Amino acid sequence: MFEANVYIERRRVLKDKFDSGIIIFLGNNDSPANYLANTYSFRQDSSFLYYYGIDRPGFAATIDIDNNLETLFGNDYLIDEIVWVGSQPTVNEFAEFVGIKRAVELDKLSEQINSAIKKGRKVHFLPQYRSENIMKLASIIGVDSSRINDYASEKFIKAIVAQRSIKSEEEIKEIDAAVDIAAKMHIAAMKMVKPDTDERKIAGMIEGIALSLGYGLSFRPIVSINGQTLHNPYYDNKMKIGDLLVNDSGAESKLHYASDITRTIPVGGKFEQKQKEIYEIVLKSEQNAIDSVKPGITFKDIHMQAATDIASGLVELGLMSGNPEDAVRAGAHTLFFPHGLGHMLGLDVHDMEGLGEDLVGYDESIIRSEEFGLKYLRLAKTLESGFVFTIEPGIYFIPELIDMWKQENKFSEYINYDKVEEYRNFGGIRIEDDVLVTEDGFRVLGSKPIPKSVEEIEATVPSK
Ligand code: GLY
Ligand code: MN
Repeated sequence: MFEANVYIERRRVLKDKFDSGIIIFLGNNDSPANYLANTYSFRQDSSFLYYYGIDRPGFAATIDIDNNLETLFGNDYLIDEIVWVGSQPTVNEFAEFVGIKRAVELDKLSEQINSAIKKGRKVHFLPQYRSENIMKLASIIGVDSSRINDYASEKFIKAIVAQRSIKSEEEIKEIDAAVDIAAKMHIAAMKMVKPDTDERKIAGMIEGIALSLGYGLSFRPIVSINGQTLHNPYYDNKMKIGDLLVNDSGAESKLHYASDITRTIPVGGKFEQKQKEIYEIVLKSEQNAIDSVKPGITFKDIHMQAATDIASGLVELGLMSGNPEDAVRAGAHTLFFPHGLGHMLGLDVHDMEGLGEDLVGYDESIIRSEEFGLKYLRLAKTLESGFVFTIEPGIYFIPELIDMWKQENKFSEYINYDKVEEYRNFGGIRIEDDVLVTEDGFRVLGSKPIPKSVEEIEATVPSK
């Protein structure tokens, strides 16, 4: 937890954006995996963490703007809980840790909200993503649970997005630390990439490093020789010479700030010629994208430039043809680069995505595209100093997509399908780093770079 003043100041900034009404925060509860007592590891709601820092299940909080009254809701542990899971600070003590004067039992929450509603006061709450909180709120507010998020407060969401998007120094320190743990995870993984090794050994080791250092994972790691599947969640393969292993994994700091890093590693320690050529294209587009980060530029422009760099490289290799800018405008590059260049990063690995992607990554000046590829761009808006996000271009050969487009003869003026066939079993390459926008440019987060060039990777991965 940060010091109380951090949370007091964050709530003060939030309160200042409201003239009236009541603001509600629901913390998360333990969530059963296969029976009630066997739970997934607890993850607090990120907005609750941001304003209250309390990393325990069973809390809620309100801010009554009209009466300038802040309340923390929770229940003290009874002896049965203490016997099984140990003691913890009382709700009053938690309130004191985060600068709140009033702490009451959890079941008082519905009373407070109901009385506000009866008086015709505006109640502001966030979109909910966990079933218990959906049901709880729906029953308090008195609407059907399937429609509760229709009543979420856009004013509240926008206030939070504005605040959480600009990372403070203490937050940047946390993300830097999470990147440094990810660096350890990635370098250790590179050293394990040998023929006949199971993917799951690497996935297990990655998780072990994060846990043993007191950190967690920011998401389930992607560790796959089938890197053409963007978020491949399985670890069932054995690696062999000639495979490329995509390792997309990140840590979560003690205060739950995320890192998200991707490296692509040749099994056997040396990139084959074809692999090296594609790798260099992805690397160049990533480096150019990072170099162009500064306040005032839109992330969509950086995405389009990265797509153009990829298309130019593919034209040089004969996989695409024609003018790369025209090809990108038409969307032909999305056969190879079907996702967005990056996303916000913070307390969530896709930061604030639960509040609504468009309210986080877009603004009035940029409307989200519905086209294949561009529709997956999560961040598009103008960059401001203090934003932290990922930059993660990639080139993939997805057999199902190739077959579909080829059959439709889609963009045949830009795509050389005969040549593409030669890469059918290539897999995929992605390279990802975490970047902070500074007053006059950018900083790649982490205290030292993680091997990335062909030479650096080959020097780290054991040769067969
Ligand atoms: N690293 C996983 C993602 O960006 O979605
Ligand atoms: Mn990512």
